[in-house]
Amino acid sequence: MNYLPFFEKKQRYFILFVSEIIFRKADLMIYLAPLQGFTDYVYRASYAKVFNAVDAYFVPYISLKNNTIPNKYIREILPDNNGQNRVVPQILAKDAAEFKFLENILVENGYSEFNLNLGCPYPMVTNRGKGSGLLPFPDEIYKLLDYFYSSDKGELSVKLRAGFKSAHELEAIIEVLNQFPLKEVILHARVAGQLYSGEIDENAFAYATQNLKHKLVYNGDIFSTEDFIAKQNKFPGIDTWMLGRGILMNPLLPHEIKGVQVSPQERFDLLNTFHQTMLKRYLEIMDNEGNALNKMKQFWIYFSRCFPNQRKVLKHIKKVKSLNKYGEIVKSAFYENRG
Ligand SMILES: Cc1cc2nc3c(=O)[nH]c(=O)nc-3n(C[C@H](O)[C@H](O)[C@H](O)COP(=O)(O)O)c2cc1C
Repeated sequence: MNYLPFFEKKQRYFILFVSEIIFRKADLMIYLAPLQGFTDYVYRASYAKVFNAVDAYFVPYISLKNNTIPNKYIREILPDNNGQNRVVPQILAKDAAEFKFLENILVENGYSEFNLNLGCPYPMVTNRGKGSGLLPFPDEIYKLLDYFYSSDKGELSVKLRAGFKSAHELEAIIEVLNQFPLKEVILHARVAGQLYSGEIDENAFAYATQNLKHKLVYNGDIFSTEDFIAKQNKFPGIDTWMLGRGILMNPLLPHEIKGVQVSPQERFDLLNTFHQTMLKRYLEIMDNEGNALNKMKQFWIYFSRCFPNQRKVLKHIKKVKSLNKYGEIVKSAFYENRG
């Protein structure tokens, strides 16, 4: 009996199966979400230097204060601070005039891709008709997009919530978004009142998959590979995923999702290098050590989750007052948890 054809067939299926997995993972895109106060230019540059599984870096929003743009936002968008392959600045504006002002600054700094924030849930922002405060007013969103597309300056994407008060608002908004050639739409399917907790409205996301004409990007609550697989099974048509807190808690999550193998020793080395890179940079750019330490304390709120004894580590970091003491605590946190 000739078994060869059987083996050949089996082998072919195996190769097809493996290439299917590789193809799927190669096709998968992961974006770093904008997180004001966390994913600043130091974080983004340090991250890109050490890890390589993120496909685009979204800059936390820039907006106007007293009719001008604060310096802290300028630093965030300066080309020298943003050497990564794809950096997308985000605009938080209440109308076309504000949008235009901020967009011009971005254009002067060399950007041609922009993101519009229709998601920020905080009353200080929404009471001024910005962020998710615009969602109940699809006509205002229309005017803003109409302004952008009436002068051809580049590509625009939108990051939005499912609604301000109710996810039903999404229906009218999608009708507006469908009238413009947006690059993509990133949906965090919560309403504003939920802030960042409570259930993601999967029905609202499913509604968008069926009714939006544009490429749709999923965002929200992907904290592990299991979370990712569960969402991928629910929304098999989605190939681009925006991750925020999941990356802050585990910078290697994009690698894990994309199936990049990292040994415990490599993981240790990468996290250690990442931390050192950030600390060094903050010490270089901050006026004094205390300010640099404060930035690092903020970073550890999520980063401590990389360590099994996270509570203890965070408690010690929060109390620290000198750079020397900080160094000691960090060293013992890393070495106690060495893989
Ligand atoms: C502290 C913090 C700051 C944020 N800043 C921004 C921002 O500047 N622009 C924006 O579009 N979303 C912002 N977000 C929302 C995130 O981009 C993201 O949509 C949200 O965290 C859900 O994704 P995740 O579950 O992967 O974190 C922020 C969220 C947090 C927790």
